Amino acid sequence: MSKQLIVALSKGRILQETLPLLADAGIAPLEDLGKSRKLLFDTNLADVKLVVIRAVDVPTYVQLGAADLGVAGKDVLLEHGAEGLYEPLDLEIARCRLMTAGVTGAEPARARRRVATKFVNVARGYYAELGIQAEVIKLYGAMELAPLMNLADEIVDIVDTGNTLRANGMEPRELIAHISTRLVVNKAAMTMKHERLKPLIERLRSAVVARR
Ligand code: ADP
Ligand code: PRP
Ligand code: MG
Repeated sequence: MSKQLIVALSKGRILQETLPLLADAGIAPLEDLGKSRKLLFDTNLADVKLVVIRAVDVPTYVQLGAADLGVAGKDVLLEHGAEGLYEPLDLEIARCRLMTAGVTGAEPARARRRVATKFVNVARGYYAELGIQAEVIKLYGAMELAPLMNLADEIVDIVDTGNTLRANGMEPRELIAHISTRLVVNKAAMTMKHERLKPLIERLRSAVVARR
C-alpha cells in the first residue's frame, strides 16, 4: 500500500463547504477545483491528493481502498452501508433531515404504500421496522414530483428549509434521521497508514471544533 493519501470529496454543495474546512486543517488544492475539468488534484501536502467525484460514489471509493479518506453525507452512508468504513468525524456541514413527505393534508395510504426515493435501502428498512407494507420505487431525482404525478403516495427525501416540498404542495411527515457530512476512512488504511492519518484527522477535528 502506497504511503500516499487519497481523499475522495463529494462534488456539489458539500464540496463548497468542505474546501474551507480542509484549508483550516492545512490542506489546499494547488489549483482551483471549480475551474478545472480534472478530477484528481495535487495539494500543498506532497503526499495528499484529492479526487472530486459524485457524492454517491464516495463510500465505494473508500470502502474498496481506491481512496483512503472520504467526505460524504450521512444519508449517502446510510444508504450505502458501513462495511469497510470507519466514520471518525462529523464535519458538521450540509446539515439537513432525511424525512418522509406527502401531499399536504392527505392521509398516508394505509394498505401497501408506494414510496418514491433514491434512498431505497433506508426506506425499506424504515417501513419494515414500522411494520408498514411499502412498495419502494427507485428514482434518481425530483422525488417531490412523484406524489403529484400519482407515481407514489409518499417520498423519502432530504428536507432542509422545506421550500421544495411546499413549492410542490407537499409537507414533511416523519423524521428518519438527522443528516450531516461525515469523514470516512478505509478500515485497512486506518491500520496501515495510521501514523499519517491520525494527525490529519485530528487537524480536521480541531477545524470543526473551532467553528462551533
Ligand atoms: P446530489 O447531486 O446527490 O443531490 P448534492 O450536492 O445536492 O448532491 O447533495 C450532497 C449532500 O448534501 C447530500 O447527500 C446531503 O447529505 C446534503 N444535502 C442535500 N440537499 C441538501 C440541502 N437542501 N441542504 C443541506 N444539505 C443537503
Ligand atoms: C435537495 C433535496 C431536496 C431539497 C431540500 O435538492 O433533494 O429536493 O434540496 O431542500 P429544502 O428543504 O431547503 O428545499 P437539491 O437542491 O440538492 O437539488 P437536486 O435535485 O439537484 O439534488
Ligand atoms: Mg441535491
